[in-house]
Amino acid sequence: MIEVRDVKRWIQNGSRRVDILKGISLRIPAGQFIAIVGASGSGKSTLLGLLAGLDTPSEGEIWLDGTPIHNLAEEDLAAVRGRKIGFVFQSYQLISTLTALENVLLPFELNVEGNGLKQARALLEAVGLGERTDHYPVQLSGGEQQRVALARAFVVNPPIVMADEPTGNLDSANGRLVLDLLLERNSHAGATLVLVTHDPEIAARADRKIVLKDGVIIEDTLPAVPVEALVQNEEGNG
Ligand SMILES: Nc1ncnc2c1ncn2[C@@H]1O[C@H](COP(=O)(O)OP(=O)(O)O)[C@@H](O)[C@H]1O
Ligand SMILES: [Mg+2]
Repeated sequence: MIEVRDVKRWIQNGSRRVDILKGISLRIPAGQFIAIVGASGSGKSTLLGLLAGLDTPSEGEIWLDGTPIHNLAEEDLAAVRGRKIGFVFQSYQLISTLTALENVLLPFELNVEGNGLKQARALLEAVGLGERTDHYPVQLSGGEQQRVALARAFVVNPPIVMADEPTGNLDSANGRLVLDLLLERNSHAGATLVLVTHDPEIAARADRKIVLKDGVIIEDTLPAVPVEALVQNEEGNG
């Protein structure tokens, strides 16, 4: 579970303080698929970066599975991040001097003991790149690069996956493929999925949607209760 307690993030710009997030509180239970939406500049990427421990809040607390991450030293933060979070960027962020396979192996080597080669190959196969493992990013299309980035995010089997507009640079066919792979990570592997998106259709598929505006949450829908759960409850009670 992720817990955010009255988090603020501001930037000091000379004598002027620019408030980016103005007091965000949020609990994300394990296994939830939550979509973060809002206009450009509303603070979505800033919030996601804080949740992922890529940035630290100016004020407030962030807890990850009972561990406070808002005041960890960078070294400790990196360790938590490496074990718990797979992060997918809009712009893929692959290392250009490494092959697809080497990119996928990178977090594995940093965070897990032993050899991740088998797991990395299996994941590249699963995202449809079994034949492209030795290609460099420049030799891959945008959709292929994002699928390498997904394999890299999944390779340590993180309990939480976060993605910042992961389909924003892709055509609709590749976007659908990337989205399906992320959703599968939530529905089959049980990972918590925190997805920043502009796309209302994607947001509609989430368990829960929060809307940011000018650095505050202006809407937070309750998780949809699946019909099956209601039926089971009634049977259980009767
Ligand atoms: N490092 C920074 N310095 C100054 N302003 C920033 C910085 N990072 C973000 N901002 C501003 O904070 C606001 C929110 O940014 P961001 O979180 O990227 O929004 P979103 O992802 O919703 O488009 C924007 O107005 C942006 O210009
Ligand atoms: Mg953004």
